[in-house]
Amino acid sequence: MCGIVTAIATNNVVPVLLEGLRKLEYRGYDSAGLAVLSGSLSRLRAAGRVAELAALADARQLSANIGIAHTRWATHGVPSERNAHPHISGGLAVVHNGIIENFEAIKSSLEARGYVFESETDTEAIAHLVHSKLETHPDLFEAVRLATNELVGAYAIGVLAEADPFRAIVARRGSPLLLGIGEQGMYAASDTAALLQVTRKVVYLEDGDLAELRLDGYRVVRPDGEAVEREVHLSSLSADAVELGQFRHYMQKEIFEQPQALGNTLEMIAGGGAISPQHFGARAAEIFDGVRRVLVLACGTSYHAGLVARYWLESVAKIPTTVEIASEYRYRESVPEADTLVVVISQSGETADTLAALKHAKTLGMARTLAICNVPESAIVRESALRFITRAGPEIGVASTKAFTTQLAALALLTLALAKLNGRLPEAEEQRHLTALRHLPVAVQKVLELEPEIEKWAQRFASKEHALFLGRGRHWPIAMEGALKLKEISYIHAEAYAAGELKHGPLALVDKDMPVIAVSPADELLEKLKSNLQEVRARGGELYVFADAGSEIPESEGVHILHMPEHYGMLSPVLHVIPLQLLSYHAALVKGTDVDKPRNLAKSVTVE
Ligand code: F6R
Repeated sequence: MCGIVTAIATNNVVPVLLEGLRKLEYRGYDSAGLAVLSGSLSRLRAAGRVAELAALADARQLSANIGIAHTRWATHGVPSERNAHPHISGGLAVVHNGIIENFEAIKSSLEARGYVFESETDTEAIAHLVHSKLETHPDLFEAVRLATNELVGAYAIGVLAEADPFRAIVARRGSPLLLGIGEQGMYAASDTAALLQVTRKVVYLEDGDLAELRLDGYRVVRPDGEAVEREVHLSSLSADAVELGQFRHYMQKEIFEQPQALGNTLEMIAGGGAISPQHFGARAAEIFDGVRRVLVLACGTSYHAGLVARYWLESVAKIPTTVEIASEYRYRESVPEADTLVVVISQSGETADTLAALKHAKTLGMARTLAICNVPESAIVRESALRFITRAGPEIGVASTKAFTTQLAALALLTLALAKLNGRLPEAEEQRHLTALRHLPVAVQKVLELEPEIEKWAQRFASKEHALFLGRGRHWPIAMEGALKLKEISYIHAEAYAAGELKHGPLALVDKDMPVIAVSPADELLEKLKSNLQEVRARGGELYVFADAGSEIPESEGVHILHMPEHYGMLSPVLHVIPLQLLSYHAALVKGTDVDKPRNLAKSVTVE
């Protein structure tokens, strides 16, 4: 969701800015722009893709040693060239990621002082505000500091000024931003992927930090102007990790990376490793001690991972578990209980609602917090007492796939660790679970081999306008995840139901035009599910059944069966989500949608 790149270097930064934007495309955007200083300020904007911006830059033969660039995901004002960043005030240009909540008030007071607004954005208010500060504080860094102190809301910004051509200023609060220390200059961006082209040495800015980037170095200050040192990290990401390679789309690549991602995430139990609270941090044993309940907070796909974990935590660890959508929890009056372990799940670690829900739980006195996250230095990780970093690698496709299955792996480990601490995991059981976890990458690989058959199903699906997904027990959240995947990338309307709910309403929707997808593992609920499927067939509904070997659901007219490997016990949801990911991917391919960047969606939802 919006992306920023800033660069000052001894060589031409335009290709670096454009390549950085390309690497941030996955976050979701609808327009792009850049501004560079080369004697005077030049700005280019395009109400479309980065490729269009690059063509404009080529045509103008733009070259400069300092610049800022941006991909915009519209919040204030429609996607258009006029609203695209950078926004300019006098000789000053600003790019911004986030939402300024008090921008109307700032705008009114600036208009009263004679500033004229050309766009509908909140960002333009920042540009004019910084410009207005320069009247009394001619130092650009100081002017930006004073201006940001007046902003309410979330921001990551980059600022350039014609009158001050040897430095770029960046600042962040709420929205991600990191610095890159390169051989030829200094850089800043919304995430590491944008900077791997020039450096792996990065500095994560904290909320409220302001930094000045110069050719010969940088400095960071707090909102009161006090200087701070921030640690330099060497990113372990390789540039290859964000390349498409042999695949057509990132989503496809990421679906097929799942065996590897799971193997990496579960590395600590490979070989002879046992289940231990240590997997969640040095203080985990102490923090887990006395935990009587679990509260999971998350959004979207990560929320679905939490829903699966509820079945595991209650049945295996016998711990009462509640799973809440973060945007609901943060605003509702709830009853806090101190002996709760608050588990926040987030691929990006920057989701505004999940971060706010975590902070809210802490203000209610729940200090035992654990982040399950794919980005080590993210805001959510830093805000949590304990952390488990899934090692899925960068997930670029907007639709979350490998992040989801690695979250499930982490949650399975958590379930077993809590069960063990509570004396509910006999040695033989632990070994059985460990064997299943170690074998999981191979089991997932086998499911991936079903792709050609799923592709055929997808052909029939793509012409449908609606679809119904059914599941029971711990596979009900998998049905929900399947429906979410299908709707977000193929735009086919899809709903998921716990199969037992069918006759309480949704059965009315079933007819020959409504495909019904059933997640049918050979578990204790199979017989119940079979009865639900009969109800669908009796109304002429066409069934697509993902059945484990041994499910004994006969294929017949209107009943299509795809046989999965043998039933995989507790971890079966990890296997059953794979065909649903493939089904939506191939349905989207047939429909010709933008698989990796579905309309209206952003990868990292850093605003409410
Ligand atoms: C769906 C999807 C979203 C995210 C949600 C939370 O494919 O990716 O539903 O799961 O926006 O994002 P994170 O996990 O980054 O907090």
